[in-house]
Amino acid sequence: MNILYVVGTRPNFIKMAPVIARLRERLPDAQHVVVHTGQHYDRAMSEIFLEELDIPEPDHLLAVGSGPDTLMTARVMERIADVLAQEQPDLVLVPGDVNSTLGASLAAAQARVPVGHIESGLRSYDPSMPEELNRVLTDRVSDLLFIHSAEAADNLAREGITDGVHFVGNTMIDSLVALEPRFRALEAEKAAGVERGGYLLVTLHRPALVDGPLLPRTIELLGQVATELPVVFPAHPRTAARLESIRIPARLRITAPVGYLEFLSLQSAAGGVLTDSGGVQEETTFLGVPCFTLRANTERPVTLTHGTNVLLGLDPEQIPSVLERLGEGPKRPTSPPPLWDGHAAERVADVVAGRA
Ligand code: UD1
Ligand code: UDP
Repeated sequence: MNILYVVGTRPNFIKMAPVIARLRERLPDAQHVVVHTGQHYDRAMSEIFLEELDIPEPDHLLAVGSGPDTLMTARVMERIADVLAQEQPDLVLVPGDVNSTLGASLAAAQARVPVGHIESGLRSYDPSMPEELNRVLTDRVSDLLFIHSAEAADNLAREGITDGVHFVGNTMIDSLVALEPRFRALEAEKAAGVERGGYLLVTLHRPALVDGPLLPRTIELLGQVATELPVVFPAHPRTAARLESIRIPARLRITAPVGYLEFLSLQSAAGGVLTDSGGVQEETTFLGVPCFTLRANTERPVTLTHGTNVLLGLDPEQIPSVLERLGEGPKRPTSPPPLWDGHAAERVADVVAGRA
């Protein structure tokens, strides 16, 4: 059996690392081919994750780089078509909802190669998000749909997809669990000059927030919060580029993106997290750290029902309310959603090995 794994962006590495590792153990005689599309390419967005997560050196680098969504998707399709022709895989595994995911899954489907989608079935029902189109189309052409929460099965069923759906749990949480002893020991908050439980960790990168007129007010209000509670803000490169033309309040600490171990350490020690990231909504739910999501919707409602996530809306004016909400303390104890247990990739491997 020849399995081709496609990764390209920061969250892809985290979701796919345990899947590659478990399948290599389960099927030692199979060929395991890793393709890096190069959608993310800075060391802090790519290489550091390959190293920390022990992902094998990619066999193919597509170097698609940045650009409009269509260009990126088309480049992935064009370049991975050659890889598919060369490798003749029996299965292509793609994670998440980024342009690389769509480009790879469409090209595989056109080459009549079965596709397995890790983190299938999530829906925001917000057509303005590029990720929503990527999710819907990837699921449409996938043969194996690996889901991490029960509502994903309902979303897929609504689109007429019921065959090949496997509730395996959350492979991103597998990565977190595997590195827990290391990130717990790191105490990254000390190096950041803040105290455990005494700061707000911020990540923001969605175009709806950072590419439009909402960013200056967001930064102004974060500056206000920072006068009462230290704010640590490792900025995604999309955001960093937009921040160049905005005045940053003196007390706001904005840094380059940090590695996975450092970020997990900062998350686990934070008093709260303000984000628009999908993965961070999930990790805070697992860690039991209060999360405030600055978006109008979430494709991860399980983090609202089972976790610590609160949807603030796509409204910077809500940012100061985080201080009051944190002051109120935890509402109720949370426990991780079903099958967010560190063993999701083993269940993926069970399904794939069953086809070998
Ligand atoms: C992409 C995904 C998004 C995901 C995010 C994870 C799509 C449509 N979006 O968004 O779903 O949440 O990755 O982080 O696929 N850049 C760099 N260095 C890099 C990578 C990007 O400087 O290594 C800059 C470039 O200016 C680029 C911009 O960031 O134009 C945006 O990158 P892109 O991959 O288009 O989208 P993300 O915002 O990263
Ligand atoms: N992350 C990281 N360093 C950072 C910010 C985030 O390692 O500076 C990790 C975080 O722990 C999570 C993932 O990146 O696992 C989330 O990626 P991102 O927010 O870029 O994408 P999304 O999940 O929104 O698609």
